[in-house]
Parts: sequence; C-alpha cells; structure tokens
Amino acid sequence: MIAFGVGEPDFDTPEHIKDAAIAAMKKGCGKYTAVSGTPELRAAAAADLNAAHGTAHTAESVIVSVGAKHSLFNLFMAMLDDGDEVIVPSPCWVSYPEIVAMAGGKPVLVETSPDDGYQLHYESLARAVTPKTRAIVLNSPTNPTGAVYGKEAMEAVARVLRENKEVYAVTDDIYRKLVYGVEWLSLPRVAPDLADRVILVDGVSKTYAMTGWRIGFTAGPKELIKAMDTLQGQSTTNAAAVAQAAAVAALTGAQDSVLAMHGEFDKRRHAMVEGLRAIPKVKLHEPRGAFYCFPDVSAYVGGKVKDDVALAEWLLDKGRVAVVPGSGFFAPGFIRLSYATSMANVNEGVKRIGEALALLAG
Ligand SMILES: Cc1ncc(COP(=O)(O)O)c(C=O)c1O
Repeated sequence: MIAFGVGEPDFDTPEHIKDAAIAAMKKGCGKYTAVSGTPELRAAAAADLNAAHGTAHTAESVIVSVGAKHSLFNLFMAMLDDGDEVIVPSPCWVSYPEIVAMAGGKPVLVETSPDDGYQLHYESLARAVTPKTRAIVLNSPTNPTGAVYGKEAMEAVARVLRENKEVYAVTDDIYRKLVYGVEWLSLPRVAPDLADRVILVDGVSKTYAMTGWRIGFTAGPKELIKAMDTLQGQSTTNAAAVAQAAAVAALTGAQDSVLAMHGEFDKRRHAMVEGLRAIPKVKLHEPRGAFYCFPDVSAYVGGKVKDDVALAEWLLDKGRVAVVPGSGFFAPGFIRLSYATSMANVNEGVKRIGEALALLAG
C-alpha cells in the first residue's frame, strides 16, 4: 500500500533539534513553564515572524500553544461570540470551519477556482462580509491545493479589511517555508497599515518535521493574546517544556536541514505533477507550496464510482494507493495526494493511480 494521505513530512526531526531537546532534559526542564511559553521561545517566534512579516512583535505579543491547530482553537474560542462569522476561502483544511463552529461562530466559505490558481478576489470576499464578520482566514500555501496567494489576492484582502474596520485577518502560515519557484507574500508586508489587524498563526510542525512535538504559536493584539492565555491557563497550561526547547533550536539554529527537505519535496512535486498530468482527463493546477497535489478527477466519477469518496476507495482497492477525497476539503470531484513520501513511492503510486483510473475509463 502506498500512502499519499499523510499530512506530515516523512523526514525525521533534524539531529540538532533532537540534540537541543536532549540537552534541555539533561539540564532539567521537568517543570511547568509560563502558560504562554518560555521567554526564549516567545522571543524566537517573535523574531521569526518579524523577519517574515516586517512586524514589530515582542515576546509579550506571542503565545505558544500545543501545535498550530491548538493555536487556532484558542484563538477562535477567545475571539468569537455566538453567531460571529469567519470567512474561509475553500477548498480548505477541514479544521477551520469545524473550529469556528465549535467556538460558536459561523464559517462562511468563499469558493476559489483552479482556473486562476485558487486566488482570492475582492468581489467574492466583499460579498461575503456582513456586520457579523469578525475574520478572514488566509492559508498560503493552502492545504489542500498548494496554492500560494499572489499580490492581487493579498491586495484584495487588504481592501476588504480597509473597508471593514471590525474585520481581522487570521493568517495560518504553517507551510510558508515550503514554497517552490514563486514568491511567498506576507499580508502585513503588502499592507503595513493593517499589521495590527493581522493575527499570525504559525509553528514548527511542517517546516522542521516536528508534527509530533506539538508546538504552534500566535502573534496578535495583546488583549487577544491575554484572552488566549486565560483560556489556555484553564485547559492545557503550557506546551511541553522539552518541545519548547526543541522549537527554539529549530527557529534559531542552522536552517540547512530545512533547505534539504525543501529541495527533496520540490523534486517529488515535479515528479507527481508530471505523472498526474500524464493521466488522461486528470486536471491539475500546479501546486506551488506545502506538499500536496490536488487533482480534479471528476471525469472519473458519476459512473461506476459515484463520487470522490468512492473513487478513493477504488484507488485503495484496485491500486493499493491511499488518497484523501476532495469533499473533505469542500471540493467534490477532487482528491488530495501528499508527496511527503519517497520518490520511489511517488513514481509507483502515480503509476498505479493511472492504471486504476484506466479501469474506469473502459
Ligand atoms: C493548514 C494547516 N494548519 C495547521 C495545521 C496543524 O498544524 P499543527 O500540527 O502544528 O497543529 C495543519 C496540519 O495539517 C494544516 O494543514
């Protein structure tokens, strides 16, 4: 079985990060830290975010949580009142609408299209804004499409924010260091006047192959960070102290391993894109970030297999390849494949998908 379903790097955490964790344990890190995280990690996260976004965050405007998902959960719990609306461009990671709904809010999906690389447009965003809108979620590169937002998309968001002073942008930049051949853009850099209405969510999980360590962080207005601290103080308290020490090493240490993983992902991306595009009737907008391909396989559904969920079962059964159905990301007729697996698996898995789909074409 070849697993294209996974949403995490296949690489192990780089050695120098593991060494930093071991050293921290030897030195003694068995105690609670401050709820919002160690001063070292909050400062390292602020510096990393400031370098990317041109912002002026300090350790005090950052809170460390148990992964970026936890950051988003605490953020929306702290931010939303019942019935508040959050605009989420789709296709999207399923946790955004789920977390917003759990926090009592209403997710409002705004569709994007593969025809223009899943870019955002002023008109569709502006149409979705109501007096109840509190935030717009931006996830660039996007899970599941791998889309990276260009200047026009960022300016569209900025225009909507300028016209609606109560609305915040929440940028989930967890994949921002995994971008291939295009420029990654930061909203606060495109629109510095809006920097204090952009809430930054980020972490070490994907870039540093640290999904299991569970470290994410949020930077934003001090009242919001304080409210998240209150919530976190009565739930998880701090993220694991040893994982925080490892995250400091990830953010402040040598970045060669990130470059090496990036290079490897890019090679696999090329191979997967080429392989998928060679399959008749499969359409694919070239992903420019993260580690996913999101092909349109709608030509193969509606007959012997009724939808993308049945198609994923077909691929598992006939091709022994696991993929994620697109309807889980609000994109029926698509499937998501992760190339966070070996080049041999990429080549063999895509070949098997072609063969399994050919059985449907006949
Ligand atoms: C878009 C996006 N944001 C956040 C996360 C979660 O990150 P973490 O593992 O740090 O909670 C994921 C993981 O799949 C993701 O795809």
